[in-house]
Amino acid sequence: MKILIINGSPKKRGLISQMLDIMRVEAENKGDSVETVYTNDLSVKPCIGCMVCRTKNKCVLGEDDSQRMIAKLQEADAIIMGAPCYWGNIPGQMKLLFDRMVYGMMRDTPRFPEPLLKGKKCILLSTCTTPYPWNVWFNQSHGAIRAMREICHYAGFKIVATIERGGTVWHPELSDKDKRKCRNAMKKL
Ligand SMILES: Cc1cc2nc3c(=O)[nH]c(=O)nc-3n(C[C@H](O)[C@H](O)[C@H](O)COP(=O)(O)O)c2cc1C
Repeated sequence: MKILIINGSPKKRGLISQMLDIMRVEAENKGDSVETVYTNDLSVKPCIGCMVCRTKNKCVLGEDDSQRMIAKLQEADAIIMGAPCYWGNIPGQMKLLFDRMVYGMMRDTPRFPEPLLKGKKCILLSTCTTPYPWNVWFNQSHGAIRAMREICHYAGFKIVATIERGGTVWHPELSDKDKRKCRNAMKKL
């Protein structure tokens, strides 16, 4: 199986990166091929909202990493997305990327949008400083998960697991339970 990991954290040694790393090792041990992309390493211009891509299936802004990422999404059998919560949402660089990839992920129709990447399994992961249960109740890590869920839903991904980890300032180390959650999520792919 081909797995694409999209890491939306700018911190390569942060908790999202550590958790995604556990998942990567788990997949590689099973013989899966895994590629990790850090959204902060990508060069992607912001969407200008012209909507031309929706009919022409091509972006007026020209070539950048967003087209390369659409190809990677199409090739992947499964996708793992990790994002720290920034203002109750996903970080800007990750949002910017998905704004530019809409036409490769769903097609507008006169009725309900048509998903273009139907059936790909997906795991979502988020962290935040707000501790549990407020990270969930007040849509902190839960807000980032909600934003990623929206993208996955319209692309047609099948979300098989979500992981939220609050309280990252007071508990900056991954516990055995956190690590187990990551490994258990991988069993669902
Ligand atoms: C710009 C910015 C905005 C943030 N917004 C929130 C927030 O709304 N709620 C929250 O609980 N934590 C927020 N945080 C804290 C991060 O979610 C937290 O540091 C997270 O654990 C970072 O994960 P990482 O180490 O995996 O990158 C914010 C951090 C930054 C840098």
